[in-house]
Amino acid sequence: MTPDRTDRNVSDGQALYPRGPILAIESSCDETACAILSPEGEVLAEKVISQEAHAAFGGVVPEIAARAHLALLPDLARKTVQASGLALHDLGAIAASTGPGLIGGLIVGANFGKGLAIALDKPFIAVNHIEAHALSARLPGVSKKNISFPFLLLLVSGGHCQCLAVEGIGQYRRLGGTIDDAAGEAFDKVAKMLGLGWPGGPQLEALAKEGNPAAFAFPRPLKGRAGCDFSFSGLKTALARQIEPYGNTALPRPVAADLSASFQQAVADVIEDRVRHAFTMMEPPTTLVSAGGVAANGVLRESLTRIAAEHDVPFVAPPLRLCTDNAVMVGWAALEVCHEAARRGLPMPDDRAVRPRPRWPLSEMQERFTVQGEAV
Ligand code: KG4
Ligand code: ZN
Repeated sequence: MTPDRTDRNVSDGQALYPRGPILAIESSCDETACAILSPEGEVLAEKVISQEAHAAFGGVVPEIAARAHLALLPDLARKTVQASGLALHDLGAIAASTGPGLIGGLIVGANFGKGLAIALDKPFIAVNHIEAHALSARLPGVSKKNISFPFLLLLVSGGHCQCLAVEGIGQYRRLGGTIDDAAGEAFDKVAKMLGLGWPGGPQLEALAKEGNPAAFAFPRPLKGRAGCDFSFSGLKTALARQIEPYGNTALPRPVAADLSASFQQAVADVIEDRVRHAFTMMEPPTTLVSAGGVAANGVLRESLTRIAAEHDVPFVAPPLRLCTDNAVMVGWAALEVCHEAARRGLPMPDDRAVRPRPRWPLSEMQERFTVQGEAV
């Protein structure tokens, strides 16, 4: 029998696995985060610390991030458990982002999680961070209706920029991604050129409201090309050229506002075009989903809402706290993996042997559900 892919694997109101709430850890970049979810996906507690030490450097410094995770995580985990009202032995499993990401932080989070799992004699679930972003919109309560497969995900943040066909748990097809900078990285670099603070995306968006999006005719890299790859470095260079005549003098605010508005419009136009192409590269999706910090951008959201309406599908953008790096999505992805294993009649997963990896292609996630190369 084909399993119902929209259910939550809840039998008589009870999820089969895990056998108690899950503690999830996120430490793949510059957010240190913990969350506790019930086996069905209700968020019982969540805490996140956005590391501030990187602002002075205008970007994430991996060594500083790893040390900060080490300093922050034990206390944050303790406070999250306290906030949930549970005791450690009530937990049914521990999960942590185990890749891809900055290896120092991944080692801290995954080893902390494994240590706790071993001490409590509970299973450990190694979560792929991109898979966690991909499934975050399915967390109960995020959208009015359960989001069923396949859906189209646009992931746009400081570190990621890609379109994914999400065809099932463990079944992800990368339709295209950036060939240079991530979208958020481009926003941050341009904001820095304009003399704005870091992270630059939100400040650039605010300044753009005072400017004219048609003031500068910036290029639309890869627009109209086959596939759905992205490129932002040419756009960044074009903006740098406009600033050059000002040398070391501060840009007049109206000019900075016009540059911001024109740059933002170019990014939104390019993403709109790439997502339109992505629709043609997969079986008709049930939903268009966006995730990642850049998905907070109002102009981009307008474009995505328009494309979804053209295809007669809903557009779902999880609330910002779930779009940016967080541990709730890590816990939810671990639960989806457990539920899928139960649905397929497989044992509760335990990934204590899985090592943190800076790269971990989504194409490998199917292996969880295969026995000797055959899908179960
Ligand atoms: O997902 P996120 O919190 O962290 C990771 O990169 O994983 O995304 C942060 C990125 C930063 O580059 C930030 O500038 C960008 O998202 N961002 C925005 C906006 N809000 C955040 N970019 C454009 N417009 C925004 N409103
Ligand atoms: Zn992320």
